[in-house]
Amino acid sequence: MFKSLVESVGQLGHAVLDSNPEGILIADQNGNIVYVNKSYTLICRNNGQERVGQNILTTNPNGALTEVLVTGQPVYDKKHVPPGAHTEVISNAFPIQIDNQLVGAIVYFREAGEEIRLIDKLAKGRENTGLLPGRSEQVGKAGYNFDTIAGQNQYLKKAIGLARRVAQTDSTVLLRGASGTGKQLFAEAIHNDSNRRHQPFIHVNCAAIPDNLLESEFFGYEKGSFTGAVQRKIGTFELAAQGTIFLDEIGDMDLRLQAKLLQVLQNGTFRRLGGIKEIKVNTRVIAATNRNLEELITRELFRKDLYYRLNVVSIEIPSLRERIDDIPLIVGALLPQINFRVGRAIKGLEDKAQAKLVNYCWPGNVRELENVLEKAVTLCEGEWIKADDISLSPLPSREPNSIMPLEELERLMISRALQRFGSSVIGKKEAARALGISLTTLYNKLRKL
Ligand SMILES: Nc1ncnc2c1ncn2[C@@H]1O[C@H](COP(=O)(O)OP(=O)(O)OP(=O)(O)O)[C@@H](O)[C@H]1O
Ligand SMILES: [Mg+2]
Repeated sequence: MFKSLVESVGQLGHAVLDSNPEGILIADQNGNIVYVNKSYTLICRNNGQERVGQNILTTNPNGALTEVLVTGQPVYDKKHVPPGAHTEVISNAFPIQIDNQLVGAIVYFREAGEEIRLIDKLAKGRENTGLLPGRSEQVGKAGYNFDTIAGQNQYLKKAIGLARRVAQTDSTVLLRGASGTGKQLFAEAIHNDSNRRHQPFIHVNCAAIPDNLLESEFFGYEKGSFTGAVQRKIGTFELAAQGTIFLDEIGDMDLRLQAKLLQVLQNGTFRRLGGIKEIKVNTRVIAATNRNLEELITRELFRKDLYYRLNVVSIEIPSLRERIDDIPLIVGALLPQINFRVGRAIKGLEDKAQAKLVNYCWPGNVRELENVLEKAVTLCEGEWIKADDISLSPLPSREPNSIMPLEELERLMISRALQRFGSSVIGKKEAARALGISLTTLYNKLRKL
């Protein structure tokens, strides 16, 4: 239906879209590409029409368009190299809704070269004048503050209290807590409560970037420092100057880079790859992990000295099970957002539905609650969610004595993880992390099973 709508745009519509200097790509809600414009072909230097009919979720799982289709939220200023392209692009992508239903998404992108030159200029200006860098489009913003973290539970309040105090300092902070407890929220809130709030907040997911790229991502590189380094690149540490860098999933960082990071934390300086000048950093570091760092240390996968550096202030974020009393408040905070996303006007939960939520164990924490609610809102026929609208992953069977073939156990764990996190690309990433394997290994196992 959406495809035929796009096709019926007509000659003028096509001419308008083609006249846009930005590359444009439109996909339906299942990810099938239904339209590309002329600039797309120019920027990606390929025959854009071949893309029509392909599926964006598989051909570009990390792109902005996929992110919009998976999350239903707009994506701004995402830097990325699209498949087949020879250049990095900056994308803005938005959901397309008709009658409050998500029918597809559109992405606009342009070559990133211009921005890189701008950032270089800013960096130069800063070197010359000592002035603060201007905000650039690559520089992220942190959305949450302490008032938007829903909950009144005593453990949560304790964590918030500590986070508020530490926000006023420049101390390195380590956020600990299981997957989906809100570590990212805390990182953003700390930044927004600090006097760095008008400066950049940059999120680096150490688990999502291949080890060999992480170093250049962090520290940047000089033009010509390796084949393909056609332009100088400013690393995240420099982009976050005067602001905050959020090192997410720090437990997944490889040892070599841990050593480099330690140096930066100790000396307050670093060098770009291929560079000779020592660059001073004034970047506040917030790290987060859901892994047991102490155990990683004994397995020699995490450096003890880095651990001590990061662990100056450690904030433990309680699991949802430990703050089950917060469920009504969290539901109250999430429901309006979900209603907006899904295009519904659900008023709340019936008592039995709420009881069902309170009695569950929530291994996936607030993120799982959010997923469960979103499903319930979508399924719900009236204005109030009923117990039947809520589907929870089956509780792990507690039969310590039963023995099963390892292969069967593996299959069980994989299917449980996919049930919990969903089988979208993002869900699979979460599932792989929860299972302690890489995304590639998960895909291989799924193929085998
Ligand atoms: N107290 C809260 N109030 C409202 N929403 C919350 C709260 N805590 C978490 N959330 C929501 O739960 C989801 C997960 O939070 P977040 O991404 O911060 O978790 P995380 O600890 O970083 O998890 P992971 O280790 O898996 O990355 C987000 O969508 C966030 O909006
Ligand atoms: Mg996180």
